[in-house]
Amino acid sequence: MSARINPSILSADFVNFERDFGTIAGADLIHVDVMDNHFVPNLTFGQPMVARMQQVTPLPLDVHLMIENPQRWAIGYAEAGAFSVTFHAEATEDPISVARSLRSAGARAGIALKPGTDVEPYLDLLAEFDQLLIMTVEPGFGGQALIEATLAKVSKARRKIDQEAIDVWLQVDGGIDENNIERVASLGADTFVAGSAVFKANDRDAQIKHLRDLANAGISHRH
Ligand code: DX5
Ligand code: ZN
Repeated sequence: MSARINPSILSADFVNFERDFGTIAGADLIHVDVMDNHFVPNLTFGQPMVARMQQVTPLPLDVHLMIENPQRWAIGYAEAGAFSVTFHAEATEDPISVARSLRSAGARAGIALKPGTDVEPYLDLLAEFDQLLIMTVEPGFGGQALIEATLAKVSKARRKIDQEAIDVWLQVDGGIDENNIERVASLGADTFVAGSAVFKANDRDAQIKHLRDLANAGISHRH
């Protein structure tokens, strides 16, 4: 298994997304943060913008919905052509029906957990999802420091996924950089969101490759 690096365009230039996509052509997927100023205290953009993004990049979009009421809104992102749509467990009473509707619309279905949300109740539901996103910062803003206490959930989820051979990507998002990615990979993550760590670099594609090499080293050191 090779690590995936998904640059978060929350750190891109919001009036030059198309130009910035060209600087991250070596990414595995593009991570797109949708925020509604209710589920999180920040606001980005919605479905029409994501639909347009998918028209101007050949890379698959990894949409992260930090919004209320995903049962109403998530499907539109799948219909816009997003490869993957991840919604928050805290935002819905019925994550399984949201996931099933995403899959039937042709997208991969992801479930995200805030730092304070326990992973245990979701471990037995993993077959319903294609991705589990363990937030390693409080969702809402880029450029924050990784919260170490969230990493125990990564190890726990990895154990379950391996024990039962579940086909699900284990994603981390928030504060991932060249100093911690190898260790986080060794604990079990395989899919890494990186906003500031990619966009601050002069050569973003070289930085993506560097992060991927470090993550692959971490994966090969798992035991
Ligand atoms: C935070 C977002 C992240 C953010 C990560 O709520 O979900 O995707 O862009 O940014 P960095 O990598 O800078 O912490
Ligand atoms: Zn995100």
